[in-house]
Amino acid sequence: MSATTSFFASCPRGLEELLQAEVQLLNPHKIFVQKGGVEFITTKIKALDFLLTSRLASRLFLKVHFFKIKKMEDIYEKNLKFPWDSLLNLDQTFKIQTLFDQEAKARFNNSMMSSLKLKDALADYFRATTGERPSVNTKFPNVSLLLRVEKTRDADEFASTLWVDLCGEALSHRGYRPPKAYAPLRENLAAALVLSTDWKPGQEPLIDPMCGSGTLLVEAAMIALNLPPTFLKIRKRLETSRAQFSFENQLWFLNDKFLTREFDQLIEMHYQNILEGLNTPLQFPLYGYDKDRVSLEMSRTSLKTAMIPAELVHLEQSFATDVHLPVEGGPGVILTNPPYGERLGEEEQLKEEYHQLGEYLKNHAQGYRAYVFTGNAELRKSISLKTSKRIPFFNGDIECRLLKYDLY
Ligand SMILES: C[S@@+](CC[C@H](N)C(=O)[O-])C[C@H]1O[C@@H](n2cnc3c(N)ncnc32)[C@H](O)[C@@H]1O
Repeated sequence: MSATTSFFASCPRGLEELLQAEVQLLNPHKIFVQKGGVEFITTKIKALDFLLTSRLASRLFLKVHFFKIKKMEDIYEKNLKFPWDSLLNLDQTFKIQTLFDQEAKARFNNSMMSSLKLKDALADYFRATTGERPSVNTKFPNVSLLLRVEKTRDADEFASTLWVDLCGEALSHRGYRPPKAYAPLRENLAAALVLSTDWKPGQEPLIDPMCGSGTLLVEAAMIALNLPPTFLKIRKRLETSRAQFSFENQLWFLNDKFLTREFDQLIEMHYQNILEGLNTPLQFPLYGYDKDRVSLEMSRTSLKTAMIPAELVHLEQSFATDVHLPVEGGPGVILTNPPYGERLGEEEQLKEEYHQLGEYLKNHAQGYRAYVFTGNAELRKSISLKTSKRIPFFNGDIECRLLKYDLY
């Protein structure tokens, strides 16, 4: 049996349970749900498969060191003998970031200082063994290290875990979004919203009447076609033979020839599935509308870049309240993310828009299940319909709700 290792998949707050369900599919040896992510123990190849297929994770980290500290100086002492040359060589750059939990923050206060202590240990280890040390690069490091310091049951001791970021660019950056999109949803949050509905992918229509740059549509289409979210990166890797993820240049991966071969095979397998997926016929297409022509063009660009076949998504410029739903009487799912009104003075006008949206749903969408995602508690009160579900999410720091309305 292959050796197992600990990994941490991070996600936006509120997605932990959905992420846990995704991790569970790997059948991991152990799984621990935490705030902002899920830790799990599995084989390296299964974890890399997760990195390629997770719709919800923001990043994936590999655990490389665990130690306990009582004082800041312990970070240096406990890492001076750590075999840093198993993680990076002199030609590779690195970056270190520290995250404290509440208690660690209260005790140690300065996370920059703890990153410095760790950097000193790394540098002194290399100097002692080679006379030189690798350089820091805070923007594009080859190896990005994350130190998480958390309290233990012993009030005096803090558990410190050193993680290596395997992604480089966040997994939520799928690569299809055009620049300058207006208030777009982060891709993994959009995927979480789609997965939180009871939409039957491909078997009933999905409509976003305020689609903006089309994030919900692209994520829904990828789910319906069973395309992995890293699809564009997989394709680029095969076309250019260039690494698309940080771990591909990291020593723990490169030095394991069996694993690198297994990963190449995995990429090939996914690519074959992608080609099949792109040809999957859907019983019902997806539908996107926006009142704004430029936004609609952005949706078109997103879908095109994501290679979603044009016939699978119908796009049209329209006010949400003028949309003729594709199947009279349903069934189908309406999923949308109306504007929140971040600017002063917008709220009154938006209240009316939310009210109108509610009236439209009541009068024209019988037989559909509608989901409205919003971060503005006042605005959602303007929809005079009874919610059958309210699911909390965070969009950055904004507390949001996905509201479900069953329309009879
Ligand atoms: C928050 S953005 C949607 C962002 C989208 N979910 C994304 O990830 O790109 C809201 C969109 O609603 C559109 N919109 C606002 N009022 C509308 C209305 N009455 N009818 C149709 N579209 C509307 C705006 O043009 C904007 O593109």
